[in-house]
Parts: sequence; C-alpha cells; structure tokens
Amino acid sequence: MDKYAVIGNPIKQSMSPDIHAAFANETGQDMEYGKLFAEVDGFKGVVDQFFADGARGLNVTAPFKLDAFEYADELTERARTAGAVNTLALQGDGTLLGDNTDGAGLVSDIKQHLGWVIRGKRVLILGAGGATRGTLLPLLEEKPAELHIANRTAQKARQLAEDFSGYGSITASGLDAVPDGFELIINASAASLSGELPPLSPRALAEGCCAYDMVYGAQPTPFMHWATGLGAEVSDGLGMLVGQAAESFALWRGVRPRVEPVLGMLRERLL
Ligand code: ATR
Repeated sequence: MDKYAVIGNPIKQSMSPDIHAAFANETGQDMEYGKLFAEVDGFKGVVDQFFADGARGLNVTAPFKLDAFEYADELTERARTAGAVNTLALQGDGTLLGDNTDGAGLVSDIKQHLGWVIRGKRVLILGAGGATRGTLLPLLEEKPAELHIANRTAQKARQLAEDFSGYGSITASGLDAVPDGFELIINASAASLSGELPPLSPRALAEGCCAYDMVYGAQPTPFMHWATGLGAEVSDGLGMLVGQAAESFALWRGVRPRVEPVLGMLRERLL
C-alpha cells in the first residue's frame, strides 16, 4: 500500500492523518498515512529511512519546513518563494519534489469555501513571518488591486514586500501606519496564538470587510471578535488546514478530494 505521513515535533496533535484518511476513503485511494516524530536536529535521518522504506510522500509541519526545503531535490516556484516546504512528493525518476501548499490552501478556502473575492480587492495581511511569506505568491496570483503587509516590526514587512516586488503590486508598513479601507484582512501574525490582538486601527476595515485568521480553535480568536464587532464577516483558519491537505493529496494522487465533508467533521471535533 502506498505510504505517506506527516512529520513534526510535536506531532501528537496533528489532524493530518484523519484528514487524509477521509480524503482516501472518499476518492477510493489505497494508501496509508501516519505520523512521524523527529528530534529537532533529526529530520534527515528519519526522512531518509522513511523514503528508503518505500514511502511516496510526506507532509512537513513545524519546526521542519526549512529542513524540508533543504532536503528536496527540486522545488516548485511557490515553495521557492515561500522559502519553506510542507509537502515532499516522490517523482517518477526517484527524486523528491518539494512543494508548499499552504498559500493555495488559504486561497481555495477564501474563494471556494467562503465565497470571498480576492481579485481586484484591497487586501491587507498582518505579520511578516513564515506564515505570511508562505502565502504571498498565491495571493498575488489572484491579482488583488493592492496587497499591503503590516507588521509589528515594520522593517520586516518592508523586506518581504521588496522580496516579492517582482510578482505584483505590494506595499508595507508597521501596524501603526496602515492605510484605511481594506476589503479583505488576513491575520498571519502569531498574535492569536498567545490570545493577543494586533493593534490595528478600525479604519483599516472597509465597510463589508472580510477578515480571516489563519489560527483555528474551539473559540473565535481576539482578532475575529474585534472584526465581528466592526461588522466584518469572519473566518478562522480551519479551512486553510484542510485546503492545504487537499492540495498535497492532489499532488500525490492526481485526484482532488472534496474539502467540505472533512471540514464539517473537524469542526464538530473542535467544538
Ligand atoms: P510564523 O511562522 O507563524 O509566521 P514567525 O516567523 O515567528 O512565525 O512570525 C511571527 C509573526 O507574528 C511576526 O510577524 C511577528 O511580528 P514581529 O516580526 O514584529 O516579531 C508577529 N507577531 C507575534 N506576536 C504578535 C503580537 N502580539 N502582535 C502582533 N504581531 C505579532
């Protein structure tokens, strides 16, 4: 049976095996998908062994996305620009392709599942770390009217904007200097992980704004509460998790699973 897994540290909490089991069931694919733990400096040894044992692909989560970037023989453009790999796929010639499906998962959740529009809209992304970098190319490919990165440390936002300036119209500032009136705001900062709200002026939200937090949990994040109070339509990032998994599955198996049933299952489990 074709063998896949997700590697991380910690890994116990990962929902990826349940997601991929549901995808495999729905699409009739004969495959198994497990969890791999590695010590922080032990990525290469565990992954060497996994592929030597005949595995076909691997998902990669924290803290190993940079290790996987180094490990891959070849990179997709979106992995190269992300500077990180969350999916390794064995190719016909025995080499490993490194991909990054996080941004595509975000975009498909926003467009297909939520029905929000990116094309032609003024889009603001909060944060300038790995989560933001991983999603900039797929977001720019949607051709927003404007993409503005705002970060607590303004210089990091400016650097990211410069790195991606060849791919579309992109601007940057600190959180205290965000222009007014964005139609879509994506929180990719780590603030929600510590229960914090990025200090953003309410004027950053246009009327009818949509607000997306990449974090998910049983309760809405402070950012989601704040945006709801200002009249925005909000979503957490559970759909991005399922969306990135669906992209990996499609890369490996050549079939695209439905995300809605799996999203419903996970949502029930979270509550
Ligand atoms: P990730 O891989 O999740 O993006 P990261 O690379 O460590 O993690 O980046 C974390 C991001 O969240 C950074 O942009 C950070 O801002 P700084 O660059 O100023 O450190 C942002 N961040 C973390 N805590 C925050 C908070 N309480 N308010 C606003 N931004 C926060």
